[in-house]
Amino acid sequence: MKRENIVGKFGKDIFPNIDKKVIEEYGSVALNKKSDSFKFYSFDLKKHFLVNAFSSEKNYFIVLFEDITDSIEKETRLNKLLNYQLIVRKINYLINYCKDEKEFYKKVCDEIIKIDGVIFAWIGLKSKDYMVKPVSYSGVLSDYLKSIEIKCDDSPLGSGPTGKSIKNNENIIINNISIDESFNPWKEKASLYGIKSISAFPITYEEEVIGALTVHSDKENYFNKDIVNVLNEISNDIGIGIRKFIDKKKIIDKTKELEDTIDNMLSSFSKIISLKEPYTGNHSLRVSELALIIGNEMKLAEDRLLALKFASFLHDLGKIFIPSEILNRYGKLTPHEFNLVKEHVIKSYEIVKDIKFPYPTHEIILQHHERIDGSGYPNGLKGDEILLEAKILAVADVVDAMISNRPYRSKLSLDDISEELIKNKNIKYDERVVEATLKILKKFELNNIT
Ligand SMILES: [Fe+2]
Repeated sequence: MKRENIVGKFGKDIFPNIDKKVIEEYGSVALNKKSDSFKFYSFDLKKHFLVNAFSSEKNYFIVLFEDITDSIEKETRLNKLLNYQLIVRKINYLINYCKDEKEFYKKVCDEIIKIDGVIFAWIGLKSKDYMVKPVSYSGVLSDYLKSIEIKCDDSPLGSGPTGKSIKNNENIIINNISIDESFNPWKEKASLYGIKSISAFPITYEEEVIGALTVHSDKENYFNKDIVNVLNEISNDIGIGIRKFIDKKKIIDKTKELEDTIDNMLSSFSKIISLKEPYTGNHSLRVSELALIIGNEMKLAEDRLLALKFASFLHDLGKIFIPSEILNRYGKLTPHEFNLVKEHVIKSYEIVKDIKFPYPTHEIILQHHERIDGSGYPNGLKGDEILLEAKILAVADVVDAMISNRPYRSKLSLDDISEELIKNKNIKYDERVVEATLKILKKFELNNIT
């Protein structure tokens, strides 16, 4: 400022927009003969100042202004960059935290909207007819987004920032929508909603542009290099997130497919045993269902339930080595024949022992005829020597035998089965397994009455 523009004039004439509080500060310094130091922003000069005011004589004061605009702007920029980095870090965390892409898109938009100056952010994916369909948004312009149509082809509706970003795989920055002709189809509506500037960033999956992140501001010239860099990084992260969610879904689908294959194989094994011992019907399948119900009632962990399922399906597989006439004998077996039947446990174990199960499935099979009091076979194990899963399988096995008709007897009633379990609780069968099974039988009875 020149000397002649200042000397002899009132402060408010030189700086018409000066803050009233600043004038009061000077007044206080002059009237009280004190010194003061403060920062202020001059809207007239568009600069930040550090002001040192002091007075050596009442009613007079001297002011020294130090232009600190550069350091303030650097500090402001640094704070903004730190804030941007925090948002990027949060989005990287969301990739692993969100349960699906829908939640991820929403949370990403919610984070972007926290950036000062952003009034709306949305993610759009292109469809087969080149329409850009919003999949998520955050901010105050949802009505605006619902009211417009955006494409990513060569039509006028594909000439906007989002369409062009997808079509050309490039960042599009419009820092003043009122002078950008490509934005004409949406200009009127966008102005009504207070939009001044827009940017769009392509989202890619496997090297193909599949959509875009579009961000709106109510300030002109809002999208400087710093904000563009951070939004570009976020759009890359959205692509990484999408890949991760698609991969995760593929793994889940493949795992499900594999589980179905295993289930089919297990059912086939079950059928093989049924052919050998026709009167038991699909015994292994039913035992498996009952064992899992008991296991669930006892709140067993998922991996233990899976082991129980495998073992239940395969526990009697060794029966294929026992002559059918012995297995299907109506009358009493000789001790020798009974010993042959008992061997099915070892045979079942031997068939599956080389299969690599992630759980002790072999042991559960080997122990399914063991009893708490040591009266079982093949090893006469007692109490805690027997795996809990084998104890569950043992009860499921005998309950299924009791609820099925046999050539030599009719099926037992639920009361008779409960009585048998209670009688042998802590003798043949584990107490907790019996209690869980009794609860299930009670529920089954109630469901069948009502
Ligand atoms: Fe068995």
